[in-house]
Amino acid sequence: MNIAVFVSGNGSNLQALLDEASRGRLSGGEIKLVVSDKKEAFALERAEKAGVKTLVKEADPSQSREEYDRQIAEHLEKEKIDLIVLAGFMRLLSERFVNRYRGRIMNVHPALLPSFKGTHGIRDALDYGVKVTGVTVHFVDEGLDSGPVIMQECLEIRENESLDSLEERIHELEHRMYPAAVRSFVEGRIKVEGRKVTILQDK
Ligand code: GRF
Repeated sequence: MNIAVFVSGNGSNLQALLDEASRGRLSGGEIKLVVSDKKEAFALERAEKAGVKTLVKEADPSQSREEYDRQIAEHLEKEKIDLIVLAGFMRLLSERFVNRYRGRIMNVHPALLPSFKGTHGIRDALDYGVKVTGVTVHFVDEGLDSGPVIMQECLEIRENESLDSLEERIHELEHRMYPAAVRSFVEGRIKVEGRKVTILQDK
């Protein structure tokens, strides 16, 4: 199974996936391509270091979202990509692209969806004063952070916890959960019925 990881920034989740692959724990899955919409993304250095092909496609204001996605899809076809893993990719995907890859695009979100959607999930949860937050891995649909939930784990927010501390703990959780979710997909252990997703047990 060929995997493309989409990034825009630091790429710590990409790194967790690359590490999982290099430990031989993504058997049957290969990270073939890293796609970035930002040429300065540190994630690209991580990909290059791991010997993974990269594609940088920055947004062009004269181009529609559909056209941007269509060009990316051409590359995905060429590489015979089966699974798209969004890891801090800061663009919304067009409906046509989502339809083409429905059920084969995953995202990780740093809060317990459907709470605290959007780009500042960690800070929004902290500012709201919730006592429990967490991480969600989900399939991507045409909405914002609205697709079927694959996996969720929660974290208790400590009294007077700083944003830095919470971010660190959320990222740690992401780096444990996301590779496990991708591994389950690659091993064919994810079953989807409407919004209900079941992960079959590892043998
Ligand atoms: C993560 O917190 C993820 O939940 C969110 O974007 C962040 C990406 O971080 N979607 P990194 O680039 O993987 O370090």
